[in-house]
Amino acid sequence: AARNKVQYICQNCGAVSPRWQGRCDDCGEWNALVEESGATGVGAGPKRGSGKGRVIKLERLAGSTAEAPRTRTGIAEFDRVTGGGLVRGSALLVGGDPGIGKSTLLLQAAAALANGGHRVVYVSGEEAVAQIRMRAERLGLADASVKLAAETSVENILATLALEETPALLIADSIQTMWTDAADSAPGTVTQVRASAQALIRYAKQSGAAVVFVGHVTKDGQIAGPRVVEHMVDGVLYFEGEGGHHFRILRAVKNRFGPTDEIGVFEMGGAGLREVPNPSELFLGERNSKTPGAAVFAGMEGTRPVLVEIQALVAPTTLGTPRRAVIGWDQSRLAMILAVLEAHCRVRLGDCDVYLNVAGGLRISEPAADLAVAAALVSSRLNAPLPPDCAYFGEVSLSGAVRPVSHAPSRLKESGKLGFAQAVLPAASAGQDVAGMTTRGIGQLVELVAEIAAR
Ligand code: TYD
Ligand code: MG
Repeated sequence: AARNKVQYICQNCGAVSPRWQGRCDDCGEWNALVEESGATGVGAGPKRGSGKGRVIKLERLAGSTAEAPRTRTGIAEFDRVTGGGLVRGSALLVGGDPGIGKSTLLLQAAAALANGGHRVVYVSGEEAVAQIRMRAERLGLADASVKLAAETSVENILATLALEETPALLIADSIQTMWTDAADSAPGTVTQVRASAQALIRYAKQSGAAVVFVGHVTKDGQIAGPRVVEHMVDGVLYFEGEGGHHFRILRAVKNRFGPTDEIGVFEMGGAGLREVPNPSELFLGERNSKTPGAAVFAGMEGTRPVLVEIQALVAPTTLGTPRRAVIGWDQSRLAMILAVLEAHCRVRLGDCDVYLNVAGGLRISEPAADLAVAAALVSSRLNAPLPPDCAYFGEVSLSGAVRPVSHAPSRLKESGKLGFAQAVLPAASAGQDVAGMTTRGIGQLVELVAEIAAR
């Protein structure tokens, strides 16, 4: 009887409600509850009687936790973000906007693994096998021994896999197209997506294959429907790119087996994605020494230093309330820096529009960017270009003090490597000089402002 019970499932977060409501109790989304009848599929779990519970002594597991067994794809930027390769028996979700290059990335990873002698199965619910072949040809991967299948039924996929040796990697592109008999609702619904993911994750756990799901993201940056999948998988990677730019950033937002602060950088070209091992060259923009308002920030993305240009435009406003527009940085952090400049450094900004942009579409979350942001703002406000061979880093406190940040030596080394001859940094971090570079430690933001004003 339970089979025909009607329930309402939030298409945003997957919460189950016994009656229809205008607003989901769990996530607060309006008009997201949809009637889905029948077996929950979700709770259906493993088929009864299929697997007898097996008890393993804890001590036998010892050692297996120390270092998860991984398979490197050989695409260094991808391996960096996962934390050293795909973990056996784990499930990963790769999300991103349609057309950003998810299928391309995974096909390249699949081919790299296959060329390394691993078995890889690529199941597409979006494209026909001939289409995937064409893409592979364009990528110069036509010879790779990746097994391709155009299939959307999870039962069919699992039946096919059961006939063959377990692959090292199974790719399901996309999870939104997959459906299973275990759930009665229509394909594409949260229930189907969740039940399909659950079945494939169970396969991963039992077989030891790594499973990668592709998920399309909605405009507001959330993975439509498959948001529920985010909670089920071991890792979630986002593949992002800025409109008009050719490069793409792979970022981990959840990673049970590795870091979440590493980024992988790629460039999309005519023959697919090219790895960018030295991203600073992308984010430095076209350096023009004559323009005021540009400051180079020596930042860190995970364990890797990345230099990026911060661009500011401060101009008298024509509006009652001046505009504050930020791309790539935190709006409230900008408000704080502006307040500190007004209060402690006598830089008048209240009657100015302020635009701040991080070059190349990178998103920065480090407070260490404060000093570079302040330098760019002051440079634009005073119409005084900064020295083009100078890099900046340091956190600014509400009192206007410049506080030390981590990884000062790496930041300096990267700056030196890219031809920067000077760096302005927190006084407390000074004295760790790199050959060929002049560093200047400052204790208060006002010192930097005075220096720019004197230029
Ligand atoms: P795709 O991997 O299909 O995106 P997703 O799976 O995220 O929807 O990438 C599609 C885009 O990438 C498409 O606009 C064409 C472009 N592209 C290239 O520029 N070069 C290439 O070599 C390939 C294969 C695709
Ligand atoms: Mg695709």
